[in-house]
Amino acid sequence: MSEPLAAPAGAGAVTPERFRQVLGAFGTGVAAVAALDAEGRPAGLAVSSFTSVSLQPPLVSFCVADTSSSWPRLRDAGRLGISVLGDHQLPVCRQLAAKGPDKLRGVDWRPSPGGALLVAGAISWLECSRQDEYPAGDHVIVLCRVHHLGTGEAEPPLLFHRGRPGTFRAHPAAGPSDA
Ligand SMILES: Cc1cc2nc3c(=O)[nH]c(=O)nc-3n(C[C@H](O)[C@H](O)[C@H](O)COP(=O)(O)O)c2cc1C
Repeated sequence: MSEPLAAPAGAGAVTPERFRQVLGAFGTGVAAVAALDAEGRPAGLAVSSFTSVSLQPPLVSFCVADTSSSWPRLRDAGRLGISVLGDHQLPVCRQLAAKGPDKLRGVDWRPSPGGALLVAGAISWLECSRQDEYPAGDHVIVLCRVHHLGTGEAEPPLLFHRGRPGTFRAHPAAGPSDA
């Protein structure tokens, strides 16, 4: 009989605090999801849950907390702008992560081809429409169809790791073909 395996390092109960702590080890980028609301006012929020889903058709997704006051203003916009933020845009990220009715005040933005809202200075952007929404615990998973996209400023990305903002550093062992 083999010895029972020891519990992996750092094991513990699944509490919201531990969940945040453990998932915080998974570094992510951050994107701004923004559009004009039904009254023509800019609305948006910062999301680290943004990810690519499918190439054909082109689909992306992000998750929004049920408590979001921005999402009800955004979800019926015909087109949503997704701006991938660079590390020079930490103040914009913080502003979009705050609560309040006028979160884009002072943020420089441009309309996308279909009229969504793109944050100026982003390192890449997509214009999407909401295709589906799936309830998932205390969040909804939003699936979006991509209609237009483009690259932006040649700046390093804004990244978050263990709740702290930072940026990208290529691994010393990275080669030119490690794309
Ligand atoms: C780095 C970062 C990532 C975030 N990612 C998400 C996310 O993926 N989904 C989400 O609902 N909120 C996320 N938030 C919080 C929202 O940006 C925002 O604070 C929240 O939606 C409350 O604002 P609202 O009521 O205007 O929506 C994130 C905040 C930060 C700073």
